[in-house]
Amino acid sequence: MTEEQFIPKTYSEIIESGSYTWSSPSNIALVKYWGKRDNQIPENPSISFTLDACKTTTTLSFSKKGNQDSFSFDVFLDGKQQDDFKPKIETFFKRIEAYLPFLKNYHFKIETANTFPHSSGIASSASGMSALALCLMSIEKDLSTPLEVTKDYFIKKASFLARLGSGSACRSLEGDLVVWGNHDEIDGSSDLFGFKYPFEVHDVFKNYHDTILLVDKGEKQVSSTVGHGLMHGHPFAKERFKQAHINLSSLINIFKIGDLKTFIDIVESEALTLHAMMMTSMPYFILMKPNTLEIINKIWTFRKETGSHVCFTLDAGANVHVLYPENEAEQVYEFIKSELVAYCQNGHYICDRIGFGAKEILGD
Ligand code: DP6
Repeated sequence: MTEEQFIPKTYSEIIESGSYTWSSPSNIALVKYWGKRDNQIPENPSISFTLDACKTTTTLSFSKKGNQDSFSFDVFLDGKQQDDFKPKIETFFKRIEAYLPFLKNYHFKIETANTFPHSSGIASSASGMSALALCLMSIEKDLSTPLEVTKDYFIKKASFLARLGSGSACRSLEGDLVVWGNHDEIDGSSDLFGFKYPFEVHDVFKNYHDTILLVDKGEKQVSSTVGHGLMHGHPFAKERFKQAHINLSSLINIFKIGDLKTFIDIVESEALTLHAMMMTSMPYFILMKPNTLEIINKIWTFRKETGSHVCFTLDAGANVHVLYPENEAEQVYEFIKSELVAYCQNGHYICDRIGFGAKEILGD
């Protein structure tokens, strides 16, 4: 598919006002997206587990307005007007206007709430942008004839729009594993939108757990945009992008046969490579904190001593995602409580697991 296929023909219906609500989860990358070209095109393919508990619910209310020269919207987080979110949404609207030509015809009220605290160091951009993109697609569906917006088109275009808001957001619409970015061995994968992982997945990966240890709840030291930018001209970028393709290739067989040992090798290496890229860019950053390393070392010791398949991954920050299979959940959870929680800021952590994607919340 090409971008042009997401430009709608003229709309057939007229709607004065309405409102839609979608709830969309966060996701955690196993092979990381780090580095992008213009228009939010990733430098390498990535794959993520869709999460379940960490999510954003957004209600988008819209009403026709007279002046159609500019965007008009208000944003509320947990019921409070949030003007500092406006520039990001204005940029998003500008990027998607060609694909949603109705945007300037309405005034929008965007009411959003996250299940996780805003100051948890967990980015809400993936869940937030995907929930908003889905609400916008619900409006487009109403404005179009039923045949124009099929279920497949709806989800692909919502993911396409979400990507233009925040790259990783395009992996949050479906579950339980989503690929984003062209990969030779995955037919249907695309740089333009997330694609539900199409191959066999061993039962051991079903219901996988992700306990998020909140090591540092502060604002990100480096925004994703700046971080991605550091990959331009990075001395190791080319090799890194190649490595992501190879790691995704290896995961195909790992998912099929349930090879947890190699899964761990790839997932942890991806996390450390992401951080290595930031340590070796110019300017350079260390985004881990001492407690991040304490946790990693504890996990390695525990794995050695018990034969457990617990492992970690990291985002572009200090928090640690502890991943483990359902059949080891009890033992690993005990370990987390007794040995790892002490390294969390105020003892805070979030229990999450693999989920199945976004849901529309229907009114009464
Ligand atoms: C480290 O999706 O937040 O979480 O496209 O600039 O919004 P933008 O970046 P963003 O980057 C996420 C990077 C990552 C890895 C990943 O999720 O694949």
